[in-house]
Amino acid sequence: MRSVSPSRWREAQAHELDFWRNWRDLAPYRDVDLDAYWRGEIPKFGLTPEFFAGRTVLDVGCGPVGLIHFLPQASRRIRFDPLLHEYQNKLPSPGFSVAGAGEQLPLVSNLSDITICFNALDHMRDPAAALSEIARVLRPGGTLLLMIHTFPAWTMPLLAIDRLHPHHWTHSGFLDRVARTFRVVRSHRERRVFPMSLAERLKPSGWKYTAAGFVLATTYVVAENT
Ligand SMILES: C[S@@+](CC[C@H](N)C(=O)[O-])C[C@H]1O[C@@H](n2cnc3c(N)ncnc32)[C@H](O)[C@@H]1O
Repeated sequence: MRSVSPSRWREAQAHELDFWRNWRDLAPYRDVDLDAYWRGEIPKFGLTPEFFAGRTVLDVGCGPVGLIHFLPQASRRIRFDPLLHEYQNKLPSPGFSVAGAGEQLPLVSNLSDITICFNALDHMRDPAAALSEIARVLRPGGTLLLMIHTFPAWTMPLLAIDRLHPHHWTHSGFLDRVARTFRVVRSHRERRVFPMSLAERLKPSGWKYTAAGFVLATTYVVAENT
């Protein structure tokens, strides 16, 4: 898992900001009910909402509308993202808001009971450094919840065209990397399907979601900090 240059990361982040400025106009996201969406993601980790009750939860790479905003049962919530100050339409703070990069978390060690890193590690400059930092800030025995998009090995040479993501993994490559820092408790992969009508798929703006639907998977990992 190599790191990318600061300029490559800044390029990806510019695309990221652009995405979040326009996401409600994009066909797959136009009608997303965020509350229902996040309620549907928690069982994919084999968990129920009660798992978060009374816990300190940190969301690294939370984005403007991440899972951390939908966990009122947690006792303490910390949202963390380098673009936090740039996001115009972000949800109100769920507790603590910290802007910065996951490669160097400005947080004390053993702080969180649960750390979420959802669809964010492949956006980072140095994912290996971020995993080490996440391990430092998560208490021993604490739980890391990871979600990442994964691809078949044959697509890897083609994915350099994806400027939004500096990194791409296969499902097994990702699990191997996580297992170097954490104990993987559970993982599963499912096809990524974009909810769009056929008419939307046939538009020039829809082709990439249709193509991605053939190769893209979503990998969910529950890991324990040892
Ligand atoms: C696709 S968004 C996911 C947001 C949110 N987790 C969600 O699922 O809605 C990826 C997020 O990762 C953040 N990110 C990029 N580089 C990062 C880094 N080095 N450390 C922490 N977060 C980073 C981006 O700013 C962006 O908000």
